[in-house]
Amino acid sequence: MSPQSKTVKDYIRTIADFPHEGILFRDVTTLFADPRGFRMAIDQLLHPWAGQKIDKVVGLEARGFILGGAIAHQLSKGFVPIRKKGKLPGQTISQAYTLEYGEAVMEMHEDAIQPGEKVLLVDDLLATGGTAQAGIQLLERVGGEIVGCSFIVDLPELGGRRLLESLGMNVSVLCE
Ligand code: PRP
Ligand code: ADE
Repeated sequence: MSPQSKTVKDYIRTIADFPHEGILFRDVTTLFADPRGFRMAIDQLLHPWAGQKIDKVVGLEARGFILGGAIAHQLSKGFVPIRKKGKLPGQTISQAYTLEYGEAVMEMHEDAIQPGEKVLLVDDLLATGGTAQAGIQLLERVGGEIVGCSFIVDLPELGGRRLLESLGMNVSVLCE
């Protein structure tokens, strides 16, 4: 396939049985490693929100940091990380969320977003939507206004997009 005809999806590889048997892991590191693929992904993640006011880009740990940093740079806006528990040094707010097995906690600095700021939330992949929902809850608790949520991959059978849309979110995905 010529580079010119490749889509974002063509740069993503699937690895079977990682991190557990039966999981088909969508590995976006191959997309990030390709200069054309990476630029295409960043441009497409931004496209749906063109012309809308965005004050901050928020990325979900860990691959959302790579995407969010590049998007924030392109927009000349600030970047805010939402991290797994215990990683942020300042005063944080926390939100528990459900994983396939058990629970985890996401945190954000309480002063990272000011009430009324317009926020774009980004991550590499939407599965059950639990991680993104925790991010949305954190942002709404500090008064952030979420313009949209952008993901590279959606796994539609896991229902994440439906969940986020039921919360009133504008959701954009690049591929399934
Ligand atoms: C992956 C992915 C999303 C999340 C999606 O991260 O990057 O953040 O899962 O799953 P969900 O929609 O069911 O919540 P992971 O939890 O593997 O963490 P990592 O990025 O730190 O490896
Ligand atoms: N997070 C949850 N499910 C995943 C998958 N299949 N590939 C990559 N990340 C994931």
